[in-house]
Amino acid sequence: MLQLTVNGTLHTVDVAPDTPLLWVVRDHLGLTGTKFGCGMGLCGSCTMIVAGSALRTCVLPASAAVGQDILTIEGLPAHPVKDAWLAEQVPQCGYCQPGQIMTAVAFLETNPTPTDADIRENVTNLCRCGTYERIRKAIHRAALARASASAVPAPSTVPAPEAPAPPASKP
Ligand code: FES
Ligand code: FES
Repeated sequence: MLQLTVNGTLHTVDVAPDTPLLWVVRDHLGLTGTKFGCGMGLCGSCTMIVAGSALRTCVLPASAAVGQDILTIEGLPAHPVKDAWLAEQVPQCGYCQPGQIMTAVAFLETNPTPTDADIRENVTNLCRCGTYERIRKAIHRAALARASASAVPAPSTVPAPEAPAPPASKP
């Protein structure tokens, strides 16, 4: 038996400790948003965020995630990356996209203002449909959105709206 915290909920699962986390989440918890691709840690379609890091869960023993917060695409709340993915219309077939999104979310936490080279170097998930250019644009869009959200002044410092001008008097 293993206890795993997935999307904020503690689950007890009857699996061998070396069962890949991907299969525990998909087959035992029924969360099938995270996809299986290569099964060898190469393509990234199985990416979840575990303790803040984007990990390829087809090669991650479930026992390694005990006591960690596990976030899957189903548990990702409203987020600038999601908005940017929609705005840039990133997905084509969509199969790799949950992994791409989770990778981008974790990446922006470590590098909020990435260059193209940073993205190329760190967001290495594969996409058979070749959506790489739109992924790059969406990551830049999400980075800008995050930056402007954090630049919004606190409510107490927002100036009060000006009083409306009095109506013009008739001649
Ligand atoms: S399925 Fe896990 S990296 Fe490809
Ligand atoms: S959108 Fe089809 S594999 Fe990436």
